[in-house]
Amino acid sequence: MNNRIPIFVANWKMNKLLNDLPDYIQKLKLLLGDVPLVTGSQYEVMIAPSTVHLQALSLLLENETILKGAQNSGASKFGAHTGEISPAALKDLKVDWVILGHSERRHIYKEEDLLILSRMRAALEEGLSVILCVGEVLQDRKTGKTFKTIETQLSILKQNNFVPGYLKRVMIAYEPVWAIGTGENASPQQAEEVHQFIRNWIAEKLDPEEASQMRILYGGSVKPENANQIMSQKDVDGLLIGTASLDPVTFSGVIKNGLKNRS
Ligand code: PGA
Repeated sequence: MNNRIPIFVANWKMNKLLNDLPDYIQKLKLLLGDVPLVTGSQYEVMIAPSTVHLQALSLLLENETILKGAQNSGASKFGAHTGEISPAALKDLKVDWVILGHSERRHIYKEEDLLILSRMRAALEEGLSVILCVGEVLQDRKTGKTFKTIETQLSILKQNNFVPGYLKRVMIAYEPVWAIGTGENASPQQAEEVHQFIRNWIAEKLDPEEASQMRILYGGSVKPENANQIMSQKDVDGLLIGTASLDPVTFSGVIKNGLKNRS
């Protein structure tokens, strides 16, 4: 057994209104109230709401252990970047983490590795931690290019001008594009195969010790029904959940089932 703490990240994407937040948090806390007792294991929960709700979430979670994440952040600290989110302003709101390179950013908004790299450098410099998302499109999988795509997306981590020790503040989320929001999840074996590839790549190219400590999350149509099997894989350390995180009942169901068999 490794000592990587399981983590469950709710990615709310562009959903919810301000008024939805207090009720959601109250219900989630109630639903998770007995989870550590049931599983006997430690775990972490993060919520990534849309940016406009981060301040409200921060206030609601003031004395809670639930982590706060942003869904993107800018490639520099401040400046003339209309529509971007300053990583310093996120830090100011007591946001701990930022999701970068999500497939919706890559594919709908055409963010490329070079931009994601700049976003990552700026976030790390401001003291944020980063969830870097990687994942192949269906065509890559069908043509045997899954690992090649993942490797290209990971290669931004090879930059030697990131702040020292940055790997301790990075998690990778493997999200096959064909599984996001489609109801069709990767099989536990497909997920494990890619997670192993990611861990080995980090060990070989960057640092074996950090690779063994790094949490690698799976995302793509996670629901209470498949959370247990996916989380039972040895290199799956957590889940990034979109649709099923919008309702505290299904989100807590994912967490509870995901933690079963882990101790
Ligand atoms: P999904 O989204 O759970 O709705 O598939 C996951 C994600 O995009 O992070």
